[in-house]
Parts: sequence; structure tokens; C-alpha cells
Amino acid sequence: MKILLFGKGGQVGWELQRSLQPLGELIALDFDSTAHAPYDTLCGDFTNLAGLTETVQRVRPDVIVNAAAHTAVDKAESEPDLARTLNALAPAALAQAAHSVGALLVHYSTDYVFDGSGSTPWAESDATGPLSVYGATKWEGEQLIATHCPRHLIFRTSWVYAARGGNFAKTMLRLAQERERLTVIDDQIGAPTGADLLADVTAHAIRQVMAHPADAGLYHLVAAGETSWHGYAKYVIEQAQYAKEAIKIVANVVDPVPTTAFPTPAQRPLNSRLNTHKLQSTFGLQLPHWQTGVARMLKEIL
Ligand SMILES: NC(=O)c1ccc[n+]([C@@H]2O[C@H](COP(=O)([O-])OP(=O)(O)OC[C@H]3O[C@@H](n4cnc5c(N)ncnc54)[C@H](OP(=O)(O)O)[C@@H]3O)[C@@H](O)[C@H]2O)c1
Repeated sequence: MKILLFGKGGQVGWELQRSLQPLGELIALDFDSTAHAPYDTLCGDFTNLAGLTETVQRVRPDVIVNAAAHTAVDKAESEPDLARTLNALAPAALAQAAHSVGALLVHYSTDYVFDGSGSTPWAESDATGPLSVYGATKWEGEQLIATHCPRHLIFRTSWVYAARGGNFAKTMLRLAQERERLTVIDDQIGAPTGADLLADVTAHAIRQVMAHPADAGLYHLVAAGETSWHGYAKYVIEQAQYAKEAIKIVANVVDPVPTTAFPTPAQRPLNSRLNTHKLQSTFGLQLPHWQTGVARMLKEIL
């Protein structure tokens, strides 16, 4: 199996480089990649749509995995054209190219396609209502992929973290060493989800869909359980305290505050719960609780 991966240096892309490797020949590209053996001219830049199309036609992969995106949610509000190019138009170009060479296209989307109302976990069939440029462009990307490439896997996920690079847990650990009192939002509810889990499930799903094409489609993929950013922060700080000498925590109070206490350019959904029944039953998987993955990531970084 030949796999073409875009966005190899991001949180999910980095883990995909590990999990996809055993499936076959992996050609992994980043924003500035211009070649990959044995190909001397390739393009990984999502602002170059013709370059992406030519790259797919040159490689003729069995599977394309897209981990690249415009993920700076607040910045997207002030650069909507770039966000749309990266999150909708480039995935559409990949979808058309994938269809033309008969490849399966794997893509990631977000809980931000929903309006965050209510408290029921969102199902794949629920109506969307993005509140931000990021959410709207990701939603458009989903629709364009479905239009141009019926043979796709789209995984909507939320609150992604990885041991590599910056993340919310690392920010909380830093602040907890500097300040005695932290304030963290407690009215946005979701599930922190590890890039390693996303990558492992992706590899499993690709193998299954290659054997059973009818299993292609849209799936919600997040860790089990739910929490708020406040609950997430408290868990991270408690785990660091158990790690004793590894880190000196000075924060003794983590105050819960509503989203309105921290105004941001982009509006975020309050209810980011995603229902994963479809994914678990289709692929025969049991998704681990979010604390399992966060504890593991903390053991790696503490
Ligand atoms: N992070 C989350 O909390 C979250 C939540 C829900 C869904 N998702 C989705 O999950 C997927 C993976 O997200 P992630 O957390 O791994 O994001 P990430 O770490 O921000 O990675 C995104 C990747 O896209 C690359 N990129 C940026 N501009 C590009 C361009 N012009 N051409 C090609 N690549 C470009 C980035 O490269 P540089 O680093 O060089 O800029 C980076 O490698 C995305 O589809 C995202 O929408 C993420």
C-alpha cells in the first residue's frame, strides 16, 4: 500500500508518521517539502492547489492522509481567506485528485462545526452550526470532500494534545509553577484527545476500509469521558503533584470561570461532546478514557 501524508510535522502528522509506517510505503510531506525519494518534485504547500494536484498524480497513492490545516482558531478570524484555502479549498483539491487516481482520502475535522448548544453528545447526523471562521472553513472542507471523493474517512475530533510541541497541559504546568492561583474556563465541555490515539485509530480504520469500502464515511473520534478546561487543568496539576520532585507546583487554587471571563476573537462551542458509538461499533474499537492518555503524556513530559 502506498500512502501520501500531508502535514507530517503537526501534532497528528507526527504521530501518523509512526502509525502509518507499518502499513506500506509512506511518503510524508510538510509545508515546505519539495521532494521525497524516489520523487524529485513534490509539493506539500496547501496554498499551492495545482502543486497538490500534481503531487497526487505523480505519486498515485492508494491512500492520502491529510493532517495539515489552519488550526489557529483566533487568528483565523482575521485571515479567513487563508483559513478557507487551507481548511476547505486544499482538501477539495486533494479530494478531486484522490478520486481521479482512485485513492482513499483520510481527513480530520472538528467539534467546532457544531454550535455548542445543549448537553447531549453530538452525533454525525446532527445539524452543524459553526460559530467561527475556523469551524466554518472546516465544515466547508468536509462538504467539499464528500462531494468530490465519496471514498473518504473524515474524523471529527476535539481538544487535541501531544507530548511533542506546545499544548494546554504544558501551559497549565508552567503557570502552576509561577502562580499561586489560576483561573480556568469551566463551561466548555469536551474530551482531551491524544494525537497518538488519533493516529493509531486512523491506521486501523485505513486497513479496515481498504478491505471493506462500505465502512468509509464520517466518524466522531475522541477519547471517552468528558471534562471542562478547568477539570482538565486540575487533573494535570494533581498528576504533577503526585510526580513529587519532578516539578514544583505553587498553585494551590484553580478557580473555575465562565467563557465570558476570557473574551477571544473566535467564539467557541460550550458543548463539544462528540458521540463515538458509530466509530466504536464500525471498527470494533473501545476508546480509552481521556485521563488515560493525558496521564501517559504527562509521564513523558514530566
Ligand atoms: N488541535 C486541536 O485541538 C484540534 C481539534 C479538533 C480538530 N483538529 C484537527 O486535527 C487535524 C490535525 O490538527 P493538529 O492538532 O495536528 O494541528 P497542528 O499541530 O497545528 O498541525 C497542522 C499542520 O498543518 C501545517 N500547515 C500550516 N500551514 C500549512 C500550509 N500552507 N501547507 C501545508 N501545511 C501547513 C502546519 O505546519 P507548521 O507547523 O509548519 O505551520 C502543521 O504541521 C486538523 O485537521 C485540525 O483541524 C485539531
